[in-house]
Amino acid sequence: AGQPTSATIRADKPGPVYDKLIFTQFAEHLGNGIYGGLWVGNDKTIPNTNGFRNDVVAALRNLSVPVIRWPGGCFADEYHWREGIGPKAKRPVKVNTHWGGVTEPNTVGTHEFFELLRQVGAEAYIAGNVGNGTPQEMAEWVEYMTAPAGSLAEERARNGHKEPWKVPYFGVGNELWGCGGNMRAEYAADVTRRYATFVKAPAGTKIVKIAAGANVSDYDWTEAMMKIAAGQLDAVSLHYYVHPAGGWPPRAPAVDFDETGWADALAGAMRMDELITKHSAIMDKYDPQKRVFLAVDEWGAWYAQDPGTHPGFLRQQNTLRDALIASVHLDIFAKHADRVRMSAIAQMVNVLQAMILTDGPKMVLTPTYHVFEMYKPWQDATVLPLELKTPQYKKGEFSVPAVSGSAVRGKDGKVHVGLSNLDPTQTNTVTIGIDGVTASVSGRILTASAINAHNTFTAPEVVKPAAFNGAQVQGGKLVVTLPAKSVVVLELR
Ligand code: AHR
Repeated sequence: AGQPTSATIRADKPGPVYDKLIFTQFAEHLGNGIYGGLWVGNDKTIPNTNGFRNDVVAALRNLSVPVIRWPGGCFADEYHWREGIGPKAKRPVKVNTHWGGVTEPNTVGTHEFFELLRQVGAEAYIAGNVGNGTPQEMAEWVEYMTAPAGSLAEERARNGHKEPWKVPYFGVGNELWGCGGNMRAEYAADVTRRYATFVKAPAGTKIVKIAAGANVSDYDWTEAMMKIAAGQLDAVSLHYYVHPAGGWPPRAPAVDFDETGWADALAGAMRMDELITKHSAIMDKYDPQKRVFLAVDEWGAWYAQDPGTHPGFLRQQNTLRDALIASVHLDIFAKHADRVRMSAIAQMVNVLQAMILTDGPKMVLTPTYHVFEMYKPWQDATVLPLELKTPQYKKGEFSVPAVSGSAVRGKDGKVHVGLSNLDPTQTNTVTIGIDGVTASVSGRILTASAINAHNTFTAPEVVKPAAFNGAQVQGGKLVVTLPAKSVVVLELR
């Protein structure tokens, strides 16, 4: 075993709420993220309800997905909402210029998206088109969705939905520094002020407005957005992807990696801590009360696409390594829960670090799905500060803390602890002091024999949670024998 880890859970110093919005999902018109993955229309061979596949919806319901971000991503900044309403046969077939140049039938539009939300039990995070749309188009979309009366509300009713929908979260563009218009920061901040002005909630309702924030470590972007536009905003986003093997363009294989690839990716995941710390410090200057939150609304691993798949579809397998990338992020968000009140892993189905992969009628849950399921008690829980003293795990040029963790008091009143052992070969013994412990502990573990273990359509349960018996209360402390390359979630009573 490696050097042990010691930890203290400050149950006496409860921190902020771990907002359930940190478990927001992202579904873009990209590859099979929507078509095939969620929407199968009137396919007679894949069981569906109003076009959305029952197997995927049931799996998402089981995650208690709070919010879904749609329709992009880069797709959002070329999306014209009017093309996705009315009779499907009359909707224009466009070219998805950003993602593979394939045709976009506009079959899934606003009404279908809200039907998906209804089925999943989630709320809407709509990404508006700032890139090549107008403020008027954006304003009319908001009105179409939310207005109780008026001609757009009547049009909505004619298209099948009389009652206004709720749009609690609205993105004022996406990646305005890149696919959203290649703007400079000050210009983007001005444009954001202008567009945000016309995103208007009906009386008695509120729309949280989220600005297109920085790429990775572009701190000047956050500075400009906060300085110029914070007054019009409720949140600023941050996008950061883990790209092992030297960054952009993504070239690391999703499955065929060695221990160096493992350590590289986990070091990339750990970087999120530094990024949030530095972006938050800038936000603190302009918003010490932390009214404006940081929405890390795109994160996750982005590898080379799987061999034989369409290069524009961003399809990648998902291994035990991705499970730890997810748990490390969820732990980092706990540390910053005062500022980070929303995050969205990219993406929900079939794209990048997905929860779910499908192939025709087949579906498989990924290791990342299982981490999101195991961390469900974190949703709207209270963060309990976790002070960790852990050795470094090193491989080649990469060095990361061997153990990552977070602790919360759940809405169920119980203490939940997440611990991940990033070392792929050494067990780590974690001794945790906690006030007022604790008669009993139970837990679950996610691990596998290989670092690149993954689930396939023919072997869907290679990586799945199992009962964990490696934690005991001894002498008033919690002692956890954490197997190599594992994610463990404990419940204390
Ligand atoms: O998630 C894939 C793409 O990554 C999104 O469309 C874009 O916002 C980001 O660059």
